[in-house]
Amino acid sequence: MNPEELIRKIEGLKRERNAVILAHSYQVGEVQDIADFVGDSLGLSREAARTDADVIVFAGVNFMAETAAILNPSKTVLIPDIEAGCSLSDTVTAKDVLQWRESHPDGLVVSYVNTTAEVKALSDICVTSANAVKVVRTLDPDRDILFLPDMFLGEYVKEQTGRTMDIWMGECHVHAGIGEKELKEKLDNFPDAEFLIHPECGCGSSCLYLKPDAKVFSTEGMVTYAQRSTTKEFVVATEVGIIHRLNKKTEGKHFIPVKDTAICEYMKMITSEKILRSLESNTFVVEIDDKIASRARRAIDAMLAVA
Ligand code: 13P
Ligand code: SF4
Repeated sequence: MNPEELIRKIEGLKRERNAVILAHSYQVGEVQDIADFVGDSLGLSREAARTDADVIVFAGVNFMAETAAILNPSKTVLIPDIEAGCSLSDTVTAKDVLQWRESHPDGLVVSYVNTTAEVKALSDICVTSANAVKVVRTLDPDRDILFLPDMFLGEYVKEQTGRTMDIWMGECHVHAGIGEKELKEKLDNFPDAEFLIHPECGCGSSCLYLKPDAKVFSTEGMVTYAQRSTTKEFVVATEVGIIHRLNKKTEGKHFIPVKDTAICEYMKMITSEKILRSLESNTFVVEIDDKIASRARRAIDAMLAVA
């Protein structure tokens, strides 16, 4: 099928089913281009909470589609490829959280949205990379905190807030691979560029001394900042899918990925063809146990109320 026909079919089915396509900024360009909304985890959660569509096709990974399903129990949430997982969310299980809770009965569990519905259900509040610092600042200073699962984001939040926290030793294989070496190389090659760094990166907190004026942002924060900044050249430390969005949302600017091979294979599993199949055959419906969903919803709503 040629691309025009594919898009026509997707558009037709969207109208027929009152469906909306939500896509994360790490999606391939063609998927970002057919989406109704492209954003970071926070923006996507907000959009999922406010949409009046009957069907949400989630072009992203499982934990994101689960979040949409948790926020929309009466809607059909579809993920075009059920194998689109996340190495970071795989690092922590509900059992791990329960174990920490047993030894910290008054503690607070703060979960990055990159977690399963089961882990969210055992959490007090969720965060995204866009709001983690803000959310943690609102928490009772007398209570212990477990921050999970990303250790680099956790370290960054700890530094910014001055809060003592237990930090789960999880990492995303894509962002953990962006470290001091990659940062140094680009610093030498692009001395006049501004540096935009995602807090999940291995260089996110420990290597910031190399470039103290680097800006630490969620993916959407990078887009908003690049639009406002008068700088023309940016080195971008995150998954490379963001470059398409940055190019689309700005004019006359040059974005250099800090690492060309920073590619999330899970995000790239979603294609336009799979989106069409998803709308045609209702695959794959994201289903979450009601009890888990309602407990997880509390943690997500608590975050949305702060942010
Ligand atoms: P953002 O929330 O900044 O988009 O990052 C989330 C992420 O890493 C998804 O893989
Ligand atoms: Fe998960 Fe990392 Fe892929 Fe994001 S980039 S979905 S954190 S594996």
